[in-house]
Amino acid sequence: MEDALAAALPEPEGSEGGCPGRLASAMRYSVLGGGKRLRPVLCLMAAEACGAPWADAIAPALALELIHTYSLIHDDLPAMDDDDLRRGRPTCHKQFDEATAILAGDGLLTLAFELVAKGVRPAESAAECVRLLAEAAGPSGMVGGQMADLQAEERSAEGTEGSAAELEAIHRRKTGALLRAPLEMGAAVAGAPAAEREALAAYGRAVGLAFQVVDDLLDVVGDEAKMGKRVGKDSGHGKWTYPRFLGVEGSREKARQLAHEAVAALAPLGERGGRLRELALALLERDC
Ligand code: IPE
Ligand code: IPE
Ligand code: MG
Ligand code: MG
Ligand code: MG
Repeated sequence: MEDALAAALPEPEGSEGGCPGRLASAMRYSVLGGGKRLRPVLCLMAAEACGAPWADAIAPALALELIHTYSLIHDDLPAMDDDDLRRGRPTCHKQFDEATAILAGDGLLTLAFELVAKGVRPAESAAECVRLLAEAAGPSGMVGGQMADLQAEERSAEGTEGSAAELEAIHRRKTGALLRAPLEMGAAVAGAPAAEREALAAYGRAVGLAFQVVDDLLDVVGDEAKMGKRVGKDSGHGKWTYPRFLGVEGSREKARQLAHEAVAALAPLGERGGRLRELALALLERDC
């Protein structure tokens, strides 16, 4: 994935592709040299679980990581979470400037769709992957969830308590959607039957929410050096988070329940779901 990401991004001097050097540098800076690559890994594992080679899932896997990285760049902007550390380094707008960070995000988002359109065959599968990616990243997915997250922050400042149910609706969009999409895209490129697609989508839905529950937890109990991003920011911003509504232990229990729900969803895949099962359980123990 690291090599494929480096090859897919425009080169710094990019005269051939016409990409201004500063834009290419900012895109490469944010994508390369950090990140767990969870979304690409989920996509490769899903394809593998459905009997397809990893090579068939590389283009969607790359696209997912580019869109995820764009979401991080924009999430860190002063108008959003206003963070200065990401993946162990200064955030994109700190390293470059705000305008460059906005454009680097725009560039990654757009390049993602180019990679899927060019790299997935047959054309029908490419169209399906474009649809899945757009739905997950768009106004009813990640972008919508980010809007709802910021609105919750405002409501919190006005004294609205909120609830775990409202929080779940935010998290399912802002993070869950882009974690379910890899499973659906991996199954799509493998041409998997409906039962397997549904099993993987259910797994992705549960893992997706579990992942943000743990992200919220790590903001409370995590170690900045290991995470490569600031901790303790959510309560400072008045964010609605799982620890806020359920406490630390309640949030851990919620993540455990969701991981077990994810594992149970894999039943139709039998032995082929083994690596995804291990991954869901490992995500409970993560510290970065
Ligand atoms: C962080 O995502 C932001 C969320 C959506 C919770 P990751 O924890 O996957 O970040 P990287 O890719 O490893 O940096
Ligand atoms: C971000 O959630 C979700 C995205 C769409 C990027 P957070 O704001 O909690 O992510 P971190 O904690 O900054 O990585
Ligand atoms: Mg945020
Ligand atoms: Mg943030
Ligand atoms: Mg967070």
